[in-house]
Amino acid sequence: MITPMPPVAVGVGLPWDVPVTDAVAEIARARATYGDTFVVESGRDRYLFTFSPAGVESFYALPEEKASKGVADYLMLRRKLPDEIFDGRRTLPGSLFRKGDVATYLVNLQAALATTTAELGPQGTVDVFGLTRRLAHRMGLASWAGPGSAEGAPFERLVLAFDTLDGADAFVHPDAMAAVAASGKSAERAALAEITEVIGGAVDHLDSRPDPEGQALFGRIVAAWDGEPDEVRKAGIAWDVALIHVASMSNLASALGWALVDLVVHTDARARVVAGDPAYAERCTLESTRLAQRSIMGRSVLAPVELDDGTCVYTVGPGATIATLLPLTNTTAGPGLADWQPDRWNRSRLADTSTLASPQLVTAFGHGKHSCPAQPFSLAAMTTAVTDLLGSYEVEAGWSSYPAPVPAQIGGVARADGPTPLHYRARTAGA
Ligand code: HEM
Repeated sequence: MITPMPPVAVGVGLPWDVPVTDAVAEIARARATYGDTFVVESGRDRYLFTFSPAGVESFYALPEEKASKGVADYLMLRRKLPDEIFDGRRTLPGSLFRKGDVATYLVNLQAALATTTAELGPQGTVDVFGLTRRLAHRMGLASWAGPGSAEGAPFERLVLAFDTLDGADAFVHPDAMAAVAASGKSAERAALAEITEVIGGAVDHLDSRPDPEGQALFGRIVAAWDGEPDEVRKAGIAWDVALIHVASMSNLASALGWALVDLVVHTDARARVVAGDPAYAERCTLESTRLAQRSIMGRSVLAPVELDDGTCVYTVGPGATIATLLPLTNTTAGPGLADWQPDRWNRSRLADTSTLASPQLVTAFGHGKHSCPAQPFSLAAMTTAVTDLLGSYEVEAGWSSYPAPVPAQIGGVARADGPTPLHYRARTAGA
């Protein structure tokens, strides 16, 4: 129940429910027709979209206990992930940032970069997003999947399994979710079983050699299951790892991919990064992330809540989802926002918000209390990775036009729609 009822966008649906050519363009068209606040009724769901400055501020201020991001995320991810993965988790993605954790992840990133360079060899062609995805898998699995999980056969098995289990498919390929449901999530369940088996090996390893160096987070995950029967314990540990990995790594991998693409395109910026300017490199990665944002930000209403869009105060009842869509505000809320300009950032804030009706209309990592706890880590990781990779290799775009995002995607950081080949040659190879 929404009172008063805003206009309902006739004939507009979301890609989980109806075939949609471009999910973001579909909502943009509805906004052009119905204004900044409107309802989309799609399948069995009712979405209240808001885009006005006051509406977006009101959205970010919604209280979690009445309008829940956690529930909205769960409802999204369960389209793809088997239900059992959500039951009884003891270590969640939000607990990844205790003191010392980020330092460990960044050490693991350095090791993952060294392995990446060894795999790339002195020259060749690689898909940008394939490269960053593999790198993110390796860094993440080294950080929380236990000893041996980021190398050799266990790593390859986990990569394959996580590429099948990938929860991000729920919003990157929403149009595929009906088929996932029809299959009873059989491929995803098989992937989860594979992950359980491989992580079980890491648990055995840790049991035989307690507390090897660099296993701080994995040690915490394992400790949370102390005292449980072996099978329950191993599945519990593996599913904690699995949910952490699917919830955390895919946006980082994609954002890093766009940062590389933009630095390949912008040669002056690349030269500055290669010369060694980490603060500038960080601004570049932030700017690429902003432009690649395709996130639908959703809050599932659990108890009546008010949304003030500046013209009207709506009372929204349980069952509805209040939402905004970053790509519709991020690039249009002020002049020049469609361009890649790293110097618009001062650390992680916009340097000049005077042309914006609200600073909250533009973001890479969110606003308010749900904003991304991994922002400093993600920026540090992307800065290190672009500086290392572009410092190691001369690169040349193998694409003829700027890569396009997957059109049906509605959520997260854009994934490229098709291959994005990059030609590279080691700077020190003398070749
Ligand atoms: C470039 C990479 C990333 C981007 C662009 C990104 C973006 C975001 C955004 C926009 C939000 C807020 C969503 C909302 O308000 O509805 C968010 C929340 C969150 N992110 Fe990230 N994120 C990234 C990487 C990561 C990583 C690597 C992790 C974990 C290791 C992570 C964990 C989280 C968590 C746990 C939340 C929820 C916080 C809460 O509900 O209080 N993110 N992220």
